[in-house]
Amino acid sequence: MAETVRVKNTGLRGVTVADTKVSFIDGEQGILIYRGYRIEELARSSSYLETAYLLLQGTLPNREELAAFTRQVAAAREIPDFVVESLKKLPRGAHPMDVLQASIPILAMADPELQAENREAAARKAIRLIARLPGVVAAWNRVRNGMEPLPPDDRLSHAGNFLWQLRGTKPDEEVARDLDVCLVLHADHTFNASTFACREVASTRAHMYAAVAAGIGALSGSLHGGANAQVLKMLLEIQSERDIPGWVEKRLDQGQRIMGMGHAVYKTMDPRAWFLKEMGLRLGKKLGQEKWPRLSGEVEQAALKAFEKRGFKTLKPNVDFFSAPVYHLMGISGDLMTPVFAVARIAGWCAHIIEEEFAEAQEKPALYRPEAEYVGQYCGLMGCAYEAVEARGETRKSQGASRKASGG
Ligand SMILES: CC(C)(COP(=O)(O)OP(=O)(O)OC[C@H]1O[C@@H](n2cnc3c(N)ncnc32)[C@H](O)[C@@H]1OP(=O)(O)O)[C@@H](O)C(=O)NCCC(=O)NCCS
Repeated sequence: MAETVRVKNTGLRGVTVADTKVSFIDGEQGILIYRGYRIEELARSSSYLETAYLLLQGTLPNREELAAFTRQVAAAREIPDFVVESLKKLPRGAHPMDVLQASIPILAMADPELQAENREAAARKAIRLIARLPGVVAAWNRVRNGMEPLPPDDRLSHAGNFLWQLRGTKPDEEVARDLDVCLVLHADHTFNASTFACREVASTRAHMYAAVAAGIGALSGSLHGGANAQVLKMLLEIQSERDIPGWVEKRLDQGQRIMGMGHAVYKTMDPRAWFLKEMGLRLGKKLGQEKWPRLSGEVEQAALKAFEKRGFKTLKPNVDFFSAPVYHLMGISGDLMTPVFAVARIAGWCAHIIEEEFAEAQEKPALYRPEAEYVGQYCGLMGCAYEAVEARGETRKSQGASRKASGG
């Protein structure tokens, strides 16, 4: 058993908790690698489904393998009726991330291999999840707007089909390709909060859907995947602002964060952000809406200057800073931006869950179980005296002093 390392209250920054073969980040140099391949290379040359195959299987597929994988995803896309019916019963104001998270255990009930514990079955479960998450997000968006969900169109790419199921119109090819690139860029990111949540749940031997539901919950938070929606909120708020640097300064003076800036691992610009920044400029020009990339560029410059002034030289734009204007240009509403992140990240989550389940990177104790230092009420190892409820009240304030003791 390894020696216990005391790294409490640091958010596990800099703590290596496991080995992984799925992806790698060099935070100093801004490098992201999936299974050995640079993210720039995959974004330029690969597709989401090919990248998903790479993450799940560890190697790039050959032509036949990619065709078979694409067919398997297409065959699994249709959302089971009882899932659609359950969406129709939900309050229309429900947040799409809550709906997506709630739909995962319902999708689990439709998986014929839910409890199967071999690797091939795990890969098939991953394919079902990758295939169905976009359909659930699109179906919910239609249901909440009083429309019937649309059947998938398998002639389209993964991203193209998502846009079709969301809107019911044939997507522009360039926009569909751009969204596919966004999905590639978001497909994995080592031990981020949601992936760690997935792996932690998988380590208990809970099934893949239980682990994914935990990941979706973690992703929804505004410090993680929820940041893209917050970035859009910020851009909408300041769109007619004349003094962007003043707005940024005021926000920082109030102790608030600039969303989409800073990263737990990157100390330079997030390599995914470069792609999205360029994509936003190009899409803005194509769609005649250059205002959004211009505005995000102005906020970026103002924030970098303000951070520099305050001595925060390593706070740079992250993936969410530039994905928000890109999705906005694509007509994806703010509350669907984090679900789109999940639609992409599902491939990475599943790859990590499989790696955890089958100990593919390294043998390790099966269950994550860190320690915590107990700093609460302590009356000795015999415990505090229990008093009947009628006798409490007066004595509560004077009871047992707080003392440190290790938790069990
Ligand atoms: C992502 C994030 C949680 C990483 O945080 P972290 O690793 O804990 O970074 P730190 O808390 O060590 O940051 C160091 C300092 O920079 C500040 N800081 C970090 N991100 C900031 C931001 N976006 N705006 C303003 N200040 C920020 C922190 O307040 C901290 O200041 P302090 O030392 O005075 O308390 C953080 O950068 C953040 O909240 N960013 C905005 C949300 C976001 O975009 N999330 C998506 C991440 S992909």
